[in-house]
Amino acid sequence: MPGASISRWTLSYFAASLVFLILGQVLLAAGFGYPVLPVEAPETLVIVHLIAVGWLGFLFCGALLQFVPVLAATPLRWPSLAAPALILLIAGLLLLCCGFLHLAGYVEHGPVLLPAGATLLAVGFGLITTMIGGTLLRAETMSLSGKFVGLGLLSLVATALLGFAFALELSGLVAIEQLHTLLPSGISLHAFFGLVGWMSVSAFGVSYRLLTMFLLSPEMERRTTRAVFALVASSIAAAGIIALALSFGRDAAASIYLPILLAAGAGLVFGYDVMTIYRARKRKTLELNNMTSAMAVAFLMLAILLSLFLLLTGQLEDRIGTLLYLITFGWLSLLGLGQLYKIVAFMTWLECYGPVLGRRPVPKVQELVCESRGSACFYLYVVAVTAAVVALLLGATSAFQIAALAQTVAAIGLSIELVRTRHLFYVRAGQDEPEAERPPPLFLPGSLERSSHQ
Ligand code: HEM
Repeated sequence: MPGASISRWTLSYFAASLVFLILGQVLLAAGFGYPVLPVEAPETLVIVHLIAVGWLGFLFCGALLQFVPVLAATPLRWPSLAAPALILLIAGLLLLCCGFLHLAGYVEHGPVLLPAGATLLAVGFGLITTMIGGTLLRAETMSLSGKFVGLGLLSLVATALLGFAFALELSGLVAIEQLHTLLPSGISLHAFFGLVGWMSVSAFGVSYRLLTMFLLSPEMERRTTRAVFALVASSIAAAGIIALALSFGRDAAASIYLPILLAAGAGLVFGYDVMTIYRARKRKTLELNNMTSAMAVAFLMLAILLSLFLLLTGQLEDRIGTLLYLITFGWLSLLGLGQLYKIVAFMTWLECYGPVLGRRPVPKVQELVCESRGSACFYLYVVAVTAAVVALLLGATSAFQIAALAQTVAAIGLSIELVRTRHLFYVRAGQDEPEAERPPPLFLPGSLERSSHQ
């Protein structure tokens, strides 16, 4: 990977994200929130943010800290902010969840918890935006992938600002007229900016680059890719205008359909682009992460078709939980887990063998993983997510909980595989003198001479 160096805190972000994924899924399996309780119940909000911020948010932040310098072909700006940002984000998320638990009546005397958590989260995401945005702005020429990530960052800011406003309003500590209109009308915009504007758009940008690289497909700026960018840019701009209108007290909540339709169009063209990239590939055998990426994009297509169907039949509001589940676990989480499987192996390889490359024989990146074990976990995960979505559509709550439990088992299995990769378990198993290999630290930064930090 040209220009690759190790972002020292990325693995710590990944470790935290996996903990929150497992925690969120355990709560879903235990029936703590939706679908046992309503979508808007505070218990559901705990799970939503453990997954959206803790799992996906931390995963995206860690991955962007590693990849944006590659996309921009320039070192990461202000890399020393990565550790404080992670601490602020973890503390903020825990406080925010305690604030939701206070709303549910589990925690007493806590009106300050929501705004305190939201403030720490906003500052943490602000530091991430500064590092990644600063790196993109320093690039000599901005690639289309970089522009997608830039748009994603704008949406992250919008998500955090709306979340902060909701937290203030829900705490009851302030009485600001505009906040009364923003909540509840702005909730769908907040979810849209987070899951579509930030995460899906960044995933589009990074996927264009990673898929062409992993599949040895020609790297070019297609007309269709420029169309995807134009559509997501208009979608985010439309969502921004609606957010402004709402904060000035206008009743614009119904216009949310426009950004959704524009984003759905962008997603369909992105799906077409991904198919073109797979068809034009020179690498004929697909590695596990490429198969999971294809399955994740298939889930995205399903989610788009479902959203159009629900929109046309007027059921979007009633079925929003199912749609969000499909986007969160089918599209974003599967894509994330698949790339995590590859990135952790790649970073471990770079950390352990980068410094001795050319001086002694080194294993291939693929020798750090055991694809047969990994694929068993991924297949379980895919079947479980499909079963969970079907159960939600049918309103079969117990079946949903069993499926969520299976998802948790798959996530734990994958986490064990990632730990084995970090411990060089499969490399050492094939060696006569296993003690010759020194595994890197599990998730904290290694010594400076080992990790060739930006
Ligand atoms: C600074 C970070 C964030 C803060 C402070 C925050 C805060 C909040 C608050 C207070 C609510 C409750 C609104 C209500 O129902 O009364 C909410 C809802 C929601 N948030 Fe966030 N949020 C943040 C980040 C995110 C992110 C990154 C995502 C998605 C990627 C997200 C997705 C959602 C969703 C889907 C809901 C609606 C959930 C439901 O009705 O069950 N949030 N957020």
